[in-house]
Amino acid sequence: MEEFIQDLPKAELHLHIEGTLEPEMMFKLAQRNNIDLPYKSVSEIRAAYKFDNLQSFLDIYYQGSQVLQQEQDFYDLTWAYLEKAASQNVRHTEIFFDPQSHTDRGIAFETVYQGINRALQDGKTKLGISGQLILSFLRHLSAEAAFSTLEQAIPYKDNILAVGLDSAEQGNPPAKFKAVFDRAQAEGFLTVAHAGEEGPPEYIWEAIELLNVSRIDHGVRSMEDPKLLDYLADKQIPLTVCPLSNVELKVFDSMAKHNLKKLLNLGICVTVNSDDPAYFGGYIAENYQAAQSALDLTKQELYQLAKNSFQASFLPPESKHKLMVELDNYYQNQKAS
Ligand code: HPA
Ligand code: ZN
Repeated sequence: MEEFIQDLPKAELHLHIEGTLEPEMMFKLAQRNNIDLPYKSVSEIRAAYKFDNLQSFLDIYYQGSQVLQQEQDFYDLTWAYLEKAASQNVRHTEIFFDPQSHTDRGIAFETVYQGINRALQDGKTKLGISGQLILSFLRHLSAEAAFSTLEQAIPYKDNILAVGLDSAEQGNPPAKFKAVFDRAQAEGFLTVAHAGEEGPPEYIWEAIELLNVSRIDHGVRSMEDPKLLDYLADKQIPLTVCPLSNVELKVFDSMAKHNLKKLLNLGICVTVNSDDPAYFGGYIAENYQAAQSALDLTKQELYQLAKNSFQASFLPPESKHKLMVELDNYYQNQKAS
């Protein structure tokens, strides 16, 4: 099973690049940039990664991001992720970045963007992995701040596929960002939003109806609203689910209680993703693996999850088709062997 999962051709659609900052890289960049870390060792950092909820994670995650200062830092971070993803046969990845975590510290938008984008270009040529960017607004900040971030992104809009919404969900509903998302769509950006991670199903409805999202990030609390479940299945609005993240942030008490398999069996286009792999104990293959063993997922279900990941991606139809053929060939060969 482990090998089947590792080699399964897949796409990753919910990954925060700042969440791929491994403790070793945090030390390396702190040294490069002359920053004092509040930790003495890698093991001390890892020991601090015990979370009670989303906010307790966000506090540590934003603190960690401060070691990212130069364009090369963003390049190194992204490159390390792409190498890891390619080693798990991720064929395509759509990466969130949080510009406000950096611009609010005086780092230029361009520095962040150029570093990440240069690594994505190298990923394509050197690793054969395609990558796209999604600019995520921090929802605990104001709509005005999101507007000003959108303005800064407009010169690069040909290389930024979509805008999204992350950070503290409760009390920061999608409605707060309707005007910004309208403007982003007028500029040609697609839209996604984190919703129904800690927040109620109403936030998922708002993301769909007010922000016109193509996908919901997380969305696991849709389970509380039968009408919403029918709607997601009927319209095939994908959910980018992150199993290890949900257990680490106590959205579910244990992996055995995760609703991934139920959502899949309701015919919803669910996908498996790693969210913030450096903080939650694993990359995409470890997420598939943890869900597989706790929920007893079959090879057919794993195949369906991978197929959904290509279907839910923002790739053009011909690229989607090519990757799905690659996946089908892989699955048929595995079944025969
Ligand atoms: N939820 C909200 N904000 C985030 C997350 C998440 O899963 N990861 C990084 N920022
Ligand atoms: Zn996320």
